[in-house]
Amino acid sequence: MHIDLTGKIILVTGASRGIGRALAEALAGAGATIAAHFNQSREATQALAETLGHDARAFQADLAEPASCERLFDTVVQTYGRLDVLVNNAGIALSMPLDVTTDEWRKGWDVTMAVNLRAVELLSRLAVRHFQACGGGRIINVASRAAFRGDTPEYMTYAASKGGMVALTRSIARAFGKDDVCAFVLAPGFVRTDMAQDFIDKYGEDYVVSDLALNRLTEPTDVAPLVVLLASGLADHTTGSTFDINAGSYVH
Ligand SMILES: NC(=O)c1ccc[n+]([C@@H]2O[C@H](COP(=O)([O-])OP(=O)(O)OC[C@H]3O[C@@H](n4cnc5c(N)ncnc54)[C@H](OP(=O)(O)O)[C@@H]3O)[C@@H](O)[C@H]2O)c1
Repeated sequence: MHIDLTGKIILVTGASRGIGRALAEALAGAGATIAAHFNQSREATQALAETLGHDARAFQADLAEPASCERLFDTVVQTYGRLDVLVNNAGIALSMPLDVTTDEWRKGWDVTMAVNLRAVELLSRLAVRHFQACGGGRIINVASRAAFRGDTPEYMTYAASKGGMVALTRSIARAFGKDDVCAFVLAPGFVRTDMAQDFIDKYGEDYVVSDLALNRLTEPTDVAPLVVLLASGLADHTTGSTFDINAGSYVH
């Protein structure tokens, strides 16, 4: 099967590093034009956009701010004239042990929900309206295995935000399928990125791999091929589905 995404405009949030970067590279490798979003990693994302080709460009936005989310979406659509696929990948995972103060917990909760859930819903709302007006489109939301099996005590808020993302994605698939809007969830387990590095450093890679059916940690490039397939439209009849990418940890 040959997948050609030439001419498709795809916004990848959090494309500066980690999973988002691998998604941007794979999608561009299939010919797509990538709007590569970042928050702080300007130089890395501008350099990435140059290597991606196909008129890829870097776009800055702090997704904790609703106005920045709107500005990001509007700027991408103004730049390219339309959007075909939205990949909500950017996310944060803050450690909040039970003994933090209520004030510290509330601040952590607020920023986690703002970036991991509110921004995803806001960008998705804008994308749905755009897709309704333009003949359809796809939304791919990067949630987490944590949405389903929960997480350690320090990451309960993170897990809660990802659970919300799953319900949101299913609602979009259910409500707007007749408008040719499809929505999918990716639920990675541990993937070797900056986000997972603290846990890997703390417990060791052998411990993490012992939880898997496969014999090596998932790399960002292991997540990317499925996103190329979902973006292509060839898998639209899986709309509303969650794709577990966790090296078989559920069956191990
Ligand atoms: N790694 C894992 O084990 C794992 C497992 C399951 C799910 N996930 C999910 O996969 C997605 C990508 O994770 P990753 O491991 O690749 O993370 P990462 O390496 O820590 O990268 C995080 C990305 O999110 C962006 N970002 C962070 N805060 C932001 C904000 N306030 N506004 C806008 N962008 C922001 C960062 O942009 P800058 O670099 O510009 O700051 C960066 O591009 C996340 O949604 C994560 O929850 C990861």
